[in-house]
Amino acid sequence: MQSRGPLMIEHRLIERMITLIDQKLKLIETTNQVDPFFIDTVVDFIRIYADRTHHGKEEDILFRELSKKQMSDQDIQIMDELVDEHVLGRKITKELVEANVKYRSGDNSALALIVSKLRKLVNFYPKHIEKEDKIFFPAYMKYLSDEEDHLMLKEFWEFDREMIHEKYKSVLQKLEER
Ligand SMILES: [Fe+2]
Ligand SMILES: [Fe+2]
Repeated sequence: MQSRGPLMIEHRLIERMITLIDQKLKLIETTNQVDPFFIDTVVDFIRIYADRTHHGKEEDILFRELSKKQMSDQDIQIMDELVDEHVLGRKITKELVEANVKYRSGDNSALALIVSKLRKLVNFYPKHIEKEDKIFFPAYMKYLSDEEDHLMLKEFWEFDREMIHEKYKSVLQKLEER
């Protein structure tokens, strides 16, 4: 498998979540209410899976390796855009968490905020994924030898292996702090 393989498989799961959010948005708008636990689950998925695990491999391994290469100006520009988009994703998610806290405390006006943040995620992720799948991933292959690509794939697996431990350490830590 090429290093982009696991990243593209992860994209498919993120797309399923985006489709689900899109469907839920229609329900939220017709019923004028949202289940805050649904938002908690979305946030957990985005933060732990899409951001920490997926963007983590992209930024901490792939982009790190590519930064050592002489990339074309165009590819550098796309990589910068991708990093900026990851930052934007984190910002939207943080705002979604804040809106959910307000909603949970009884502030119904926060529903509109939740809807707008969810919609932003729905609009943002598919474009980001498409840019990677169709433009950046095919483009980066030329900078890596088969050996380098294989080493990176191995590092991806190692990175993933750590994630389950990191996740549940943080779950326990949060419970201990309560
Ligand atoms: Fe990305
Ligand atoms: Fe990605």
